[in-house]
This record gives sequence, structure tokens and C-alpha cells, in this order.
Amino acid sequence: MILLILTSLFLLYLFDLLYWKRRNLPPGPTPLPVIGNLHLLNNEVKPGYKMYENLKEKYGPVYTFWMASLPMVTVTDWQLIKQHFIKEGGNFVGRPEYPISIEIRKGPFGIIESYGERWVQHRRFALHVLRDFGLGKNLMEEKILGEVTAMIDAIRKSPDDVDMQNIFDACVGSVINSLLFGYRYDETNMAQFLELKNRMNKHFKMAAEPIGGLIGMYPWLGNFPFFKSFKNVIMDNWMGLMKMFRRQAEERLTTIDYESEESSDYVEAFLKERKKHEHEKGFGGFEMEQLESVCFDLWVAGMETTSNTLYWSLLYVLLNPEVHRKVSEELNKEIGTDRIITTSDRSKLNYVNATINETQRLANLLPMNLSRTTVVDVEIAGFKIPKDTVITPQISTVMYDPEIFPEPYLFRPERFLESDGSLKKVEELVPFSIGRRQCLGEGLARAELFLFFANLFNQFDISLHPENTSPATEKEFGITMKAKNYRVVMKNRY
Ligand code: HEM
Repeated sequence: MILLILTSLFLLYLFDLLYWKRRNLPPGPTPLPVIGNLHLLNNEVKPGYKMYENLKEKYGPVYTFWMASLPMVTVTDWQLIKQHFIKEGGNFVGRPEYPISIEIRKGPFGIIESYGERWVQHRRFALHVLRDFGLGKNLMEEKILGEVTAMIDAIRKSPDDVDMQNIFDACVGSVINSLLFGYRYDETNMAQFLELKNRMNKHFKMAAEPIGGLIGMYPWLGNFPFFKSFKNVIMDNWMGLMKMFRRQAEERLTTIDYESEESSDYVEAFLKERKKHEHEKGFGGFEMEQLESVCFDLWVAGMETTSNTLYWSLLYVLLNPEVHRKVSEELNKEIGTDRIITTSDRSKLNYVNATINETQRLANLLPMNLSRTTVVDVEIAGFKIPKDTVITPQISTVMYDPEIFPEPYLFRPERFLESDGSLKKVEELVPFSIGRRQCLGEGLARAELFLFFANLFNQFDISLHPENTSPATEKEFGITMKAKNYRVVMKNRY
């Protein structure tokens, strides 16, 4: 009798898993019990672009990928992405909840993982603060140029053997930290920066592993021996980051000058807004938990992405001598001195801009874009997709699509130039994603990429270190793709 009940339950479970749950979803690989399709991430060539391409080939431009028990509808075709995520952008503004993240953040706080009213309020607030820093007194460019000068000084201290990853990390980290907290990293607080960077690296690496995905979906797995130590590392690491941000924000609470109208950093702007809402329930959405989560989001989203792109840009240029020559020629012609290049030079440096664009396309930092959820029922390519379905516009597949970018794995800045040498607008170049949840830091990131790249190549003749003349171009796995370490030699150009 018991055997009969167990067999029936098992058959019911299989019926649900293999047919019932999938009946209204676009096709896709068969999910396995518990892990869904997570095993595919391990079976295919890392970091996963190929897997998404193969799934597109096999199941068409819209397919379902199972992240453990969570079905993710994935849209890979540019025309469909444009038609739905841009033109009907308001339908795709939700975010899925990941139980482990909710546990650590103490709720759906922040910007990246919040949704509904909170997301609207804080995305608007963040854009407003960043715009304020960018306009008028141009605090943003001032802070970036301060770090460009720090980069040049750091290189000049030991130009014969440089690993630019560390220098980019410290400079880009200083830009975001000084926008958030008002101070940069130098010899006096380098230990704090290194701790942050270490924790961030670990965080990204673990979050991108299939086992990280599994624990993210089922934090209770951490009660079992095999998963326990893994979950403990994730928790310690992530909580440690949140504590660092919380401590700094609380320190500011005691020193802030509420009388002055202007704010010189994000935390100050947030705390002043909090004060205005102090008599409202939950400080009108400006709780300390929200601040701690926003600091985490802006740090996570703003540091590794930009620094890794810069490291790729240097590698790709050094491996393509013809591109290097053209970058140098343009800088000689348009700048011609060792003065610091500013954003007002941007429109003159078409080849430099095209090289940065091509770096962003080829580095293709996020094999798997952040997922959204539908906030109403939608129909894509004939599939009826209900409200609250997890859905991902897969920008990495678009940027490696050979129909759009022929020979997509070759580095060719000319893709982004018109025949008269002016910069070509290519709508399918979407490293910052698309629609209403498009990257919030795009303006900041673009300014950083241009100013660091242009000034680096204007100041220095750069070559690969003689002991490291053919560095690897394979990507190191994480949520954003890292280049493997390589070293360079720098000589002053002026
Ligand atoms: C090269 C640098 C960067 C790249 C390639 C990049 C890329 C992205 C991508 C692909 C998304 C996902 C959008 C989606 O959901 O479809 C995103 C979201 C986001 N990015 Fe960036 N990003 C970069 C730099 C930055 C910087 C410097 C900041 C902040 C200062 C930032 C803040 C954010 C935030 C807050 C979100 C979440 C937006 C939301 O959910 O409304 N990013 N970024």
C-alpha cells in the first residue's frame, strides 16, 4: 500500500515537473528535479555564451531555462528584445526575489533587486543625485579626473612591470567610493579597500557558480553538511560587506550638517532626504536598510564592471597592433600634448570611442543578463507569458550574433565607424542593457571608460611585458567576465 502511494506521488511529481509546470512556457531543455537546468552551466564551455547560443539554435529565439525550480523565459533575438523590452518597456520592470538575498538584505531593499514603488522611488532618487553630481559643478568628472591623475602617478612609480588590474580596481573603486561616501582610497586606507575588493570578487564568483544559484534559491540547503560550508562562506562574505557599508552610513549620521543645502556625496544626499521623512512610517522609504543595500548595489554594479572593461580594453588593443597604431595616431593628431584629456575632447576622438565600443561588445561582460519579471500578461513570438514570469533579455547573445556583428569574436573597432571616420550609432550594441531597467550608472561608466582609456594611451607607450607576450584571452568566470592577469611595460610618450 505504502509503495503504491509513494509510486503515485513520484509519478505525480514527474507529471508536474515534466509537463504541467511547463505546459504554457516556451520550449527549452528538460529540467531535472531540484537543479532544473543548472547542470548545463557546468556541462558546456564556461562562461556560458555557447550554452545560450546552442539553446537558441535548438529551441528558437525564445526559450525557457530552469534556474533550479524557477523557470526563466529567455529572449535572445534583437528584434523581439527591441519590440518588447523597449517599446513595451513598462511591462518588464519587475525583478525576481532570491530568498538568500532577501534574507541578507532584510527585505527587497536597494535598487538592483527591488521592484514596485520602492524601485521607482529609489531609481529616480539615484538618477537625480548622480545627475546633480554630473551637472553644474561637475563633481563627477572632477572625481574621475582625480583618479586618472592617481593612475598616471601610480604607473610612473614602477613603469617596467605593471599589472593594470590592481590600478584600475583602486582608481575605479575610489571613484565610486568617493561618490558614495566622499573619500578615496590611498595608502592610509588601502587595507579597507582590499578587504572590500576581496569580498566582492568572492561574492561574484560564488554567485555565478551553479551551487551558488542553488543555495540562492534554497537557502535551507545550508542545513545539510555538503552545502553548509558553502552557504556559510556566502553569508559571511555578503554580510561582511553589508556591515562595512552600514557602519560607514551610521558614522555619517552623527556628523552630517543638515543646514547646508548641497550634498557632496550619495550618503549625505540620502540622509538629508531621510530627515525630511523622519515623521513618516519607515522614513518614507529612506530606511537605513535601504541605504545599506543601495551602497552595496552601487558598489557591486559600479566597480567590477568598469574596471574589468578597462582591463579588457588594454588587452585587446595590445593584441591588435593595427588598432594600437590608429589609437596613437588619433591622439597625436587631435591632442598632441601631455595635457589631461577631458570629456570635452570626446567628440574629436572617434577611433578611441569606437575602440571602447568594440571592447564592450567583445568583452561582453554578462553572459547571463539580470532577470526581470513581467508585471502584466504579455505575448512574445506567439507565446502567452503570464504576469510575474521571470524573463531575461539576453544581451550577450545579441552582441555575439554573427548576423549583426560578422565574425563576432574578432576585435574590430571599425564596426563602429562610418566610411568618413565619424562614429556610427549601432543600436544592437547594448552592454548596458535596454528598457526601463537599463543600467543606472551608464553615464558614469561611459565617462570613466573614456577618460581612463584616452588618458592612459595618450600618456604612455604601452607594450606587453617581455615575459608575458601572449596573454590568454579566455574569460575568467564570475558574474562579470574578468581577463586573466597580464603585465605591461609603460614608457612616457611625452
Ligand atoms: C562598464 C560598466 C557597466 C556595465 C557594462 C553595466 C551593465 C549593466 C547591466 C547589463 C545591467 C542590467 C540591466 C537589466 O536589468 O537589464 C545593469 C544594471 C545596473 N547598473 Fe550597471 N553597468 C556598468 C556600470 C555601472 C555603474 C558605474 C553603476 C553605478 C554607479 C551601475 C549601476 C547599475 C544599477 C544600480 C543597475 C540596476 C538598475 C535597475 O535595476 O533599475 N552600473 N548594469
